[in-house]
Amino acid sequence: MLDDPEAVARAACDLVRACARGAVAARGLFTIALSGGSTPRRLYRLLAGLPDDPGARGRGLPWSRTEIFFGDERCVPPEHQDSNFRMASEALFSSAAIDPGRVHPVRFESYDRAGAARAAESYESELARVFDVRPGGAPPRFDLVLLGLGPDGHTASLFSGTDALGESVRWVAAPWVEKLAAPRVTFTYPLLNAARGIVFLVAGPDKATVVQQILGPDSTPGRHPAQGVRPEAGEMAWLLDRAAAAGLRQRP
Ligand code: 6PG
Repeated sequence: MLDDPEAVARAACDLVRACARGAVAARGLFTIALSGGSTPRRLYRLLAGLPDDPGARGRGLPWSRTEIFFGDERCVPPEHQDSNFRMASEALFSSAAIDPGRVHPVRFESYDRAGAARAAESYESELARVFDVRPGGAPPRFDLVLLGLGPDGHTASLFSGTDALGESVRWVAAPWVEKLAAPRVTFTYPLLNAARGIVFLVAGPDKATVVQQILGPDSTPGRHPAQGVRPEAGEMAWLLDRAAAAGLRQRP
C-alpha cells in the first residue's frame, strides 16, 4: 500500500522501467498497453521525463524499442477531452523521446456503434501486424498492461452487463455500454490475460469500497469485471494508495 497518488505514480514508473528493461534484454522489444482515465496521468508525466535508453541499462526507458497501445478507448475524436489518446498525448507523447510510429491509437472512421465495431477489427489487425502473429489466432502477449479500476468495478472498458465480458476469442471488442449510452473499444479478457505483466493503478477514497469487494477477505468471485483479469502465464500487481486500500483489513 502506498501513501498517496504521487507514490502510486512513482512506484508504477519504477515498475514500467524494470519491465521494459527485462523485455528488451529478453526480446529486444517492450510492448505496453496504456490505461485511460485520470489516475495514470501523473505516471505518464513521470515517464515523459525519461530519456531514450535503447540498451535499457541506464535511468531512461528504451523508447526506440517500445510499442505503445491502448487498453481501451472512448468513441470520440482524438482531440476530444474524453479521448484516452489525447490524455496520453498531452502527458506523455508530447514530451518523451517517443517515435509516433510506435504509438498505436484506436482509429475510428465514425464514432457510432458501427464505427466502434470497425475500429475494434482494425485494432486487432494492427496488433497482429506489430506483434507479427496470425489474426484470429492466439492473442499477442504484452509485456505490460496498465489498468485502472472504476468505482463500479469495471476495468479497461469491460463493464458489467456488456457482451464483451463473454468474449473468449476476439482480442478487441466494441461493447455498447448502457450506463454511458455509448459504445467503447476495449481489450478483452483473452488479450488481457495473455499478458506477461498486468498492473492495476488505483488511488483515491472513491475506490475503497470496490477494492475491498475485490481484494478483501470476503470478496465474491465474478462480482466485478476487474476480477476477470487473471493473467494465465504472467504476473499481476495492484498499486493502491492508502485511501483506496482503506477498506482492506490491515494484516497484523
Ligand atoms: C477509461 C479507463 C477506465 C479507467 C477507470 C478508472 O477509459 O475510463 O480505461 O477503465 O481506468 O474508469 O478511471 P480513473 O483513473 O479516472 O478513476
